[in-house]
Amino acid sequence: MTSHHLGRTVFGNPANKGNLMPLEEAHALLNEWVPNEKLRLHMKQVAAVMKAWALEKEGADEKTALKWELAGLLHDADWEKNPDEHCRVIIEELERRNLDPEIIHCIASHGPRYFGVEPENNMDKMIYMFDELSGLIHAYSLMRPGGYAGMDVKGVKKRLKEKSFAANVSREDIQDAAARIDTSLEEIIGFIIKHQQAVQ
Ligand SMILES: [Fe+2]
Repeated sequence: MTSHHLGRTVFGNPANKGNLMPLEEAHALLNEWVPNEKLRLHMKQVAAVMKAWALEKEGADEKTALKWELAGLLHDADWEKNPDEHCRVIIEELERRNLDPEIIHCIASHGPRYFGVEPENNMDKMIYMFDELSGLIHAYSLMRPGGYAGMDVKGVKKRLKEKSFAANVSREDIQDAAARIDTSLEEIIGFIIKHQQAVQ
């Protein structure tokens, strides 16, 4: 991904706090903006992992879990059609739709090196942690005869060390994201394997 700094660090309107969109609306937006099925699957997988993390690890209520899920679902929504302006386009769209500023900030900070926005709260930090790793784990599932069946943390860590495997996955970003949280990389990998495999 090339660098396209957003040039600002404040997003959305504080008055919109708590404004979520129904999942159906987010899926409709995704279908419209992202014709590429593989890319849509990536966003659905990150969304499932984000939702599960909120519920299991953050003690989130249903509404907060939906917030995490929406951030995952929409984080790359403009990438296919506007690669040079990712993620400015989706951010401005969500601001127009008066979405909760936390979701918009989360999306804006999912690649600090590229967008120039630092992850602040746990939701920001976890989407950054999950994004690249989720892609690598899915790529690994596609090359394994059994897919996700029998996949373990050790195998994923091996692929992670193999720079030529899923070479577009930034190992640097994964290390940087892991350094910002208290959970071990092993636990994160196990959590992703468990929660994204059912997503089709
Ligand atoms: Fe992504």
